[in-house]
Amino acid sequence: MDTAKKIMVSGIKPSGDLTLGSYIGAIKNWIALADEYDCYYFMADLHAITVRQNPADLRRRTTNQLAQYVACGLDPEKNTLFIQSHVPAHAEMGWVLNCYAMFGELSRMTQFKDKSAKNADNINGGLFTYPALMAGDILLYNADYVPVGEDQKQHCELTRDIANRFNGIYGDVFKVPEPYIAKVGARIMSLADPTSKMSKSEDEDKGRILITDKPEDIMRTFKRAITDSDTGAGCVHYDPENKPGVSNLMTIYSCATGKTFAEIEKEFASAGYGVFKPAVGEAVVEMLRPIREKSEDLMKNKDYLNKLMADGAEKASRVANRTLKKVYKKIGFVLPNGK
Ligand code: TRP
Repeated sequence: MDTAKKIMVSGIKPSGDLTLGSYIGAIKNWIALADEYDCYYFMADLHAITVRQNPADLRRRTTNQLAQYVACGLDPEKNTLFIQSHVPAHAEMGWVLNCYAMFGELSRMTQFKDKSAKNADNINGGLFTYPALMAGDILLYNADYVPVGEDQKQHCELTRDIANRFNGIYGDVFKVPEPYIAKVGARIMSLADPTSKMSKSEDEDKGRILITDKPEDIMRTFKRAITDSDTGAGCVHYDPENKPGVSNLMTIYSCATGKTFAEIEKEFASAGYGVFKPAVGEAVVEMLRPIREKSEDLMKNKDYLNKLMADGAEKASRVANRTLKKVYKKIGFVLPNGK
């Protein structure tokens, strides 16, 4: 392991199928980070159960999601990919940090407030202490950076506060991480409503593409994409303010083909949307085809997946257990066999 590299940690809730939006907006960036950083990505199943899950679904989604990340090109040789519950140090560290996270702090987390409003019949203790588990996830690996979206910034702040508090009592135990603000990856919007982000919870909606969607479904969704009432020459023009639908399609086309907006405008200078939309669809089909095929292959290859999970968990455990032991010693736990 190259210890000079900065360390990056991120957890992904196993919600299953990845969207075109998350592929273009996030995963492609992560793939590019692998050479520069020492990256740990885990499927956050411990976090997932803070809201009620169907066991069979959770199991399938967790595996699926891991396979899909690998299929997208997140290289398990270069990155440490694993399932959170395979590394018990997460649960252990989470408990310890619970005791260094204050009730008041946890009460102020906006995600807790939002989620308890949405799950009024299941406001469980885990939902409340979730940020302490997340702090453990991060601090176990001596992370320098945590690549997160806007919605997780507050949890990262709390992680820093917890780390500083702990270090204040016991000396320099934890590295205090910083949020990593990704280079603005393309923000992909819904094809049905280009003013809102493409999300996987747009259930069965016409607006989202999953990376495992079949070519004919992808084509149908693109042909139906919402644009505007312009017609004829010059209607394929990048103007996010006034032409959000077309600009979103151009962004997608640009990511799929590597062409610039100027090149795209030229290519479709005399075309209407009836030509442009299927062209974007085809480009996406071609971009996603190898990913879908690889992901299907992986899902069939249980031995490979099991080995991948085991290797990832082993690599992660080595680092995580080292940190956990240091913490146990500092807080005064008696170590087994005195070691
Ligand atoms: N809380 C994150 C989310 O809801 C997932 C997550 C869990 C995470 N542990 C993490 C993200 C550690 C970054 C680092 O998306």
